[in-house]
Amino acid sequence: MKNVDKFIESACEEIRTEVGKGGAIVALSGGVDSSVVAALAHKALEGRLKSFFIDDGLMRAGEAKTVAGDFKKIGIKVDVVNVQEQFFSALKGHIDPEEKRKAFRDTFYRVLGDCLRDSKATHMLQGTIAADIIETQKGVKTQHNVLEQIGFSPARYGLKVLEPVRTLFKPQVREVGRKLGLPEHMCARMPFPGPGLATRVLGEVTPERVEILRKATVIVEEEIVSLKPFQAFAVLFNDQATGVKNGKRLFGNIIAVRSVDSTDAMTATPTEVPWKTMMTLAKRITEEVPTVVKVVYDLSSKPPSTIEYI
Ligand code: XMP
Repeated sequence: MKNVDKFIESACEEIRTEVGKGGAIVALSGGVDSSVVAALAHKALEGRLKSFFIDDGLMRAGEAKTVAGDFKKIGIKVDVVNVQEQFFSALKGHIDPEEKRKAFRDTFYRVLGDCLRDSKATHMLQGTIAADIIETQKGVKTQHNVLEQIGFSPARYGLKVLEPVRTLFKPQVREVGRKLGLPEHMCARMPFPGPGLATRVLGEVTPERVEILRKATVIVEEEIVSLKPFQAFAVLFNDQATGVKNGKRLFGNIIAVRSVDSTDAMTATPTEVPWKTMMTLAKRITEEVPTVVKVVYDLSSKPPSTIEYI
């Protein structure tokens, strides 16, 4: 990116001009896009920005606490809204990927609507980036944060939407974050999709199944992060397979490890994970996650595959 300072200056100016004497709201996910948007808006609006973290039960381990803590350190207060039950009841019984995405975003915007009604905001900030827009236009999938496509109308709440990083791709968003003084672990963080772990649970998304995946996700991140992949995570298959645990036959879960190298998520290739790491992953996941009996590594590139599983 040629001039990061200039981008920050003009994005803040745009936010200030748009919001005028009003106030804005941002829903943080802990990911780099919404974090950068929150930091930009905080710089532009200070006390007139209200930041929420919607705890939907689909986040990685310890996320609500970490995000609120990280933002507190840089002077941004984050309200954590616990709405896990609402999300799990909306996702109940859904197996079809697009139905799951729809259940997620309908709930997300209903919950967000409640937050908006209670706030005095006039504007809503979104961390939509260029890749989200391109993929949605191409019909690759319905990205939950592209509002016009999903028929969510912030106008119903009297709100205008601002998407200050809509022209940037992920590496540029990271650069802006660094310039704004966000901690390195936040800027360098792997992307995490809006619908969270729901994009990595094949079949029904239940609290129990998400918990299995969450445990496996911690292990994948711990073991693979040093290889610096673009994204690395675990996926829970809907099928089960036979294994032997504690001397007994167990028809248990299958976890896929997905790790990809990419610059902008438009294309991706599987990370060349050393065999030793592969073995450690399989050992740890089958030992530390009680119901898992098989671990596989996903070798597919994007295209024709996608990075996520739904
Ligand atoms: P796919 O699976 O389409 O993902 O290859 C490309 C990139 O986008 C992320 N992703 C999402 N991000 N909302 C988001 O904010 C979504 O609904 C969503 N779906 C996928 C994915 O993690 C990858 O980085």
